[in-house]
Amino acid sequence: MQKKIEHIGIAVKDLEASNLLYAKLLNRPHYKIEVVPSEGVKTSFFKMGDSKIELLQATSLDSPIAKFIDKRGEGVHHLAFAVDDIESEMERLKAAGFQFIHEVPKPGADGKKIAFLHPKSSGGVLIELCQDL
Ligand code: CO
Repeated sequence: MQKKIEHIGIAVKDLEASNLLYAKLLNRPHYKIEVVPSEGVKTSFFKMGDSKIELLQATSLDSPIAKFIDKRGEGVHHLAFAVDDIESEMERLKAAGFQFIHEVPKPGADGKKIAFLHPKSSGGVLIELCQDL
């Protein structure tokens, strides 16, 4: 089951500048910075009650975030839904006709197991499923 919006991912060009912007906006500092080499990103997180904002900066030119910013500029990149059992939820969604970018879950930022749905099959919205490790 998809329980809640775990976080909203936002693509940024300059993580340091965006950390300052979001700290001002939310009136609190980020609580964590983490590099995820497999995704080619450097992330930072802000708590928003039970949910989070994840800022994503590319760490290489071929990072998915670099490609996204080239095409669409900075802004909302994905929605992440928390699930209890990512494998069974992926099975259910595949059976319902959804496509995944990752066929099997992989390690994500902030202690999660993640998989992205292909936005072609989810109405143009990039959706991440994530489960606590
Ligand atoms: Co995310």
